[in-house]
Parts: sequence; structure tokens; C-alpha cells
Amino acid sequence: MSAQAQVTFPPGFVWGAATAAFQIEGATHSDGRTDSIWDTFCRVPGAVVGGDTGDTACDHYHRWPADVALMADLGLGAYRFSTAWPRVFPEAGRLNQAGLDFYSRLVDGLLDAGIAPWLTLYHWDLPQYLEDRGGWADRDVVGHFTDYALTMHAALGDRVRSWTTLNEPWCAAFLGYAGGQHPPGRQEPQAAVSAAHHLLLAHGQAGRALRSVDPTATIGITFNTTVADPVDPADPADVAAADLMDALINRVFLEPVLLGSYPQVAVDAFASAGATLPIRDGDMEVIKAPVDFIGLNYYQGNAVTAHAPAPTDVLPSGAAVVRPTSSPFVGGQGVHAVSRGLPRTAMDWEVQPDGLRRLLERVHRDYTGQAGVALYVTENGAAYDDEVAEDGSIPDVERAEYIEDHLRAVHAALESGVDVRGYFAWSLLDNFEWAYGYQKRFGIVRVDFDTLERTPKLSACRYAEIARTGRVLAGPIMVCEGVRERQAVNDTVSA
Ligand code: FCB
Repeated sequence: MSAQAQVTFPPGFVWGAATAAFQIEGATHSDGRTDSIWDTFCRVPGAVVGGDTGDTACDHYHRWPADVALMADLGLGAYRFSTAWPRVFPEAGRLNQAGLDFYSRLVDGLLDAGIAPWLTLYHWDLPQYLEDRGGWADRDVVGHFTDYALTMHAALGDRVRSWTTLNEPWCAAFLGYAGGQHPPGRQEPQAAVSAAHHLLLAHGQAGRALRSVDPTATIGITFNTTVADPVDPADPADVAAADLMDALINRVFLEPVLLGSYPQVAVDAFASAGATLPIRDGDMEVIKAPVDFIGLNYYQGNAVTAHAPAPTDVLPSGAAVVRPTSSPFVGGQGVHAVSRGLPRTAMDWEVQPDGLRRLLERVHRDYTGQAGVALYVTENGAAYDDEVAEDGSIPDVERAEYIEDHLRAVHAALESGVDVRGYFAWSLLDNFEWAYGYQKRFGIVRVDFDTLERTPKLSACRYAEIARTGRVLAGPIMVCEGVRERQAVNDTVSA
């Protein structure tokens, strides 16, 4: 794969962009919505950089018509968004029609604009009332999630054909309940391992329920992934460390869903930390319910060693928050990810596009290919410290390059026979980047958080051309023929 090669994607390849409810909607207490665990967490001193909250975010709750118009203008074929559970069920068992109506209007708006809605049911905003009852560490959450999934489907299933149960259960379980970088901020290995199992069970049970009411729906789940390479492939300790990281991030979710069992190396790691998966009879069958697609979110690979690294080799990890956190790797404390000296994004994530090709090839070969399960890249993108030029444009060359290099990697995987059917840029908009607050900008569209004005960046223009032509061009990134002024999008604000 040459970094400069021109590549052409097959017709029908899905070109989309992704967001998540809590990161963009704002209006956290409008029309009956109650707190999610993220609302609560934002109020914990020192938990989120700058004390930022999701209260306003991108105000997408009110500005969604403009955002849909923006996507239509960019020529996107699909929009991956999530629905906020506490907007729809503000209390256990009490449906909030106003919350449901918001998503119904959004779906209609997307369809009118020719954009396929890709709905994710859970992108981390658990209702606080469920956390108060034990959250994902408590098995009862599974039934609540299934009810929520069926309710969303009853309201939107006639128009939404692509359903994702969960986004990145690793983060929900291990950042939320072991590391404490995310809410509920617990740092209890057993709770994290229980949460992982219950998330998978919720995926399986809800997925089955959706399929039984709608056999032709497209149903899947999205995982965060890494490509773990031993620093020294000749050192058995480094090889084992890389294998453990792979097990604790990738296989612990891929294998239950696609093979119906947990990887033994992860089970052993959990046991070494005194934690066990709370598996009951029949659970693994439920978790292995057939899926139509697996979504892979890929941002970076990891060089992994078992040996304590020199401080200069350590990659900063996590947001610079005041509140103390722990390692999210239950039973993986001896595993270190170190720098390979590759270029880094503003997150300090190393840029390694070829990792995406290897990831797709490996998942297709080991898990999804034979099962006839399709792959989608459901998130990929980069945070950079964008600068606004004097003429108001945002020449985010690095982000455009990041996206195009990763698309070349996707194309290389396609060429080698991987069944990958689409790509969703993370993210449509600059937004609330979790514990990093508003400091990290991932959008292909800039959001001015004072005025909430949206301005497509150079990367949006380039991506729009790719979506329009199916082609990633060789040659200079600065060129973007399709640059158009689009002030109008900022004027359309929903009533
Ligand atoms: C992923 C999340 C997404 C966003 C990106 C940068 O882990 O799914 O919400 O924060 O990272």
C-alpha cells in the first residue's frame, strides 16, 4: 500500500459520519430528560477536564435540522448516531413520548435528506437511576436494556434499518468500573468484569428480541479495537504481554459474540485480580445470537512490552484529570504500551494506518468471514489542535491526511478479500470528548462553542469528495475543489 496511491471503492460502499447523543445533543434537562451517569460524573470535581459538561454541547437537540442539512451538503450516505436512554425512559418503566418524538423527527429528517439512519442504542449514557441500582454490574440492567431496545424499535423500526446495540462495551465496563476514567467512576475489578458480561448479555438479549420482531433488520455491535504488537517479537515476555492486551481489549468481546466463549487468557487475568465472569447457564448462547455486522472503531495500534519502560517511552494515557483513577486492565497491570516514535494526534495516540488493514484482515479471517458477518469501520478519525485561518477556513491538513491514509488501509483490506462495507468518520462535529471535555476536537466540521456556529473544515471537503466519487486521490491534501460557503446551515435552527 502506498501512502500516495489513488484508490477507488466499490459502488455501494457506505460513506458516513458518526456522533453520540451525550457528546452533541445538550438540552440535558429539556422535555423530560433526566440524568445519565455522564451528567452526574460531570458534576464530580476533577472528573472532567475544565469541569466541562454536556449541558449545551453542540446544541444538536435544537440544531439537528441544520446538522442534517450539513450532512446532506457533504453528500453523506449514512449517519451513525446514538439515542439517549434517559431521554426516552426518564424513570424506570416510564416512557417519555417527547424524547421519543425527538428521535422520530431526526430519523424523518435524515430520510428526507437521503441519509440512512444508523442507530446505536447505547453510547455510554446509562440512566442514573439504573446506576443507583447497581448499574452494569447488576444483572437486572439486561432486562431494562431489552425493554428500551424494543421501545425504540417499536417507534422507529419502520424507518431505521441498521441497529447497533452497544458502542464500545470495553469503555463502558473497564473505564467505567475498573479505571474510573468514565462514569460511574468505580474502581472495582469485580464490578468491571461483571459489567462486561452484562453488557454482552444485554447485546445478545436485545439483539435477539429485535430480530424476532424484525427479521430483516440489520443488527450489530461496535467494538473499540487495537492492534497489539510486541516491542520485541523475539522476547516471549513481550509476545505474551501483547497477547494479553489483545485478549483484554479485542478478544474478550469478539469471541463471546462470534464464538460463544471467553478467551482463557482473559479469564485467567481476571482471576489473578480476584474477579470472575458471572456466567449463568444459557448466557453464552444468548451472547452468541447471530449478528449481521461487527463495527470496528480504530484509532491507533499499540506497541506492547512486559518490561517497565523508560519514562520517555511511556505514552500519556487518559485525560489530565485531577480525580484519581486506576488501570482499566483487570489482571493486566504488567502490560505497558510504549511509543514507537510515530507521529501523534492531539490525544497522544500514535498514527498507524496500516494497523487498520491488519485489524480488518485479522477479524475477517478469525471471526467474521466464515460466519458471513460484514465489517464496518464505525469510527476512525483524529483530534488535532485546529487553527482557524484569517479567512475563516480551517485547513486541517493532518486530519484530512489521517482519514485518507486510513481509507487507503481499508481499501487494501478490501483488495485482500475482507468484507468491509462502510466507513464512518469520527466525528461529524467537534464535541464533548468525554473526560477531555471540549479541549479535543475530532470534528470534520468545526463547532465554535461560544456561538455554536458550524464550519466545515478542509477534511470535511475532502471527505465529501471521497463520498461523492468513491475515490481517494493521490496528491496534495490542500486541494479541495468542492469548497463551498455554507452559511445557511447556521441559520436553520429547529423551533
Ligand atoms: C471512541 C468513542 C467516541 C469518541 C472517540 C474519540 O472511543 O466511541 O465517542 O470519544 O473514541
